Amino acid sequence: MSGLKPFIAANWKMNGNNALISEFAQQFDAEALSDIDVLVCPPSVYLERFSYQVAKHSSAIAVGAQNLNENDSGAFTGEISTAMLHEVNAKFVIVGHSERRSIYGETPELVAKKYNVALTNQITPILCTGESEQERDNEQTFNVIAKDIDAVIELCGIKSFEQGIIAYEPVWAIGTGKSATPEQAQEVHQFIRSHLAKYDDEVAAGVRILYGGSVNEKNAAELFKQNDINGALVGGASLVSEKFMAICQNAQSNK
Ligand code: 13P
Repeated sequence: MSGLKPFIAANWKMNGNNALISEFAQQFDAEALSDIDVLVCPPSVYLERFSYQVAKHSSAIAVGAQNLNENDSGAFTGEISTAMLHEVNAKFVIVGHSERRSIYGETPELVAKKYNVALTNQITPILCTGESEQERDNEQTFNVIAKDIDAVIELCGIKSFEQGIIAYEPVWAIGTGKSATPEQAQEVHQFIRSHLAKYDDEVAAGVRILYGGSVNEKNAAELFKQNDINGALVGGASLVSEKFMAICQNAQSNK
């Protein structure tokens, strides 16, 4: 971690229920984590409940969505808009998660549109990017990531990363229990920062880059010691409040 305020985000994916929200409300002591930013992204149907049960009582914990539509409103069955996110007090949104790219066919261009609609409507986007195992084996990691980032720069400009957040999530590390090593993650985080620096040094130095992929309470501390890792996007381990809390505490002590 390198001077930027650590950011720890939970992505519940299609998991969680009212009981888990109550667990977070009762046990999650975000006030004790004053030096870091904490975000939870539950499924969209739970955003309002989470906002009112947890976030409202703890200003230290923010709420975000896992996806949004690139349009403002209209005939888009099943979709949610930035205006709706504001109404349930969600101030962040994950865009371009690898599951959305691979299962739902989201392209870099579509993800850039989602990033843009979020930013222009005062919702902070978290842009996910990462390579598959095959892409890593074929030494395509940097190309894949540059393509995802350049699609956003092309549509929104480099300054859009003054407000946004980036999450590096190697697909082969997601849900597999096989995290990238701290060195592997640092190498890619450094690449992302140097790629942004080709456009704007200040933006590159100021953007928070999170690591995601099998982060847990045991491997978090070593990851957070790396210079260009500014936090984590946590899947499975965020479904147990004590585990997520332990990851947050690691970030607090390695800031
Ligand atoms: P896991 O932590 O379960 O590997 O998931 C990571 C992720 O995809 C977070 O967005």
